[in-house]
Amino acid sequence: MLVTGGAGLLGSHIVDRLIDTHEVVVLDDLSTGSMDNLAIHVDNKRFTFIEGRISSEAIVKEAIERSKQLVQSTTYLDNSIVGFI
Ligand SMILES: NC(=O)c1ccc[n+]([C@@H]2O[C@H](COP(=O)([O-])OP(=O)(O)OC[C@H]3O[C@@H](n4cnc5c(N)ncnc54)[C@H](O)[C@@H]3O)[C@@H](O)[C@H]2O)c1
Repeated sequence: MLVTGGAGLLGSHIVDRLIDTHEVVVLDDLSTGSMDNLAIHVDNKRFTFIEGRISSEAIVKEAIERSKQLVQSTTYLDNSIVGFI
């Protein structure tokens, strides 16, 4: 499961709920989010963190290749979309 914005307020709670039953990949640029929100998961084998922007094709490709489903909780998509979950 790919959670974009997974280091944010809502995204990190989504990760908390998913991690027991799914492999979770978080893609986040840490612009407003924080690794503090994910600290309890960093040693979990089912957890992967990728730092990067959702506007980067290469990074999104990598994240999608490692995931089968998507939860999108990013706030900004390069200023073109604000507010998305
Ligand atoms: N918090 C609320 O009560 C609430 C209520 C309704 C809707 N929402 C919406 O839910 C979404 C998440 O809200 P939140 O409160 O968790 O915000 P947040 O800022 O805590 O989380 C957003 C996350 O997205 C990351 N991010 C932003 N731009 C990015 C980019 N271009 N690429 C990768 N990562 C990026 C940030 O670093 C952050 O971790 C927002 O779209 C918000 O508008 C929030």
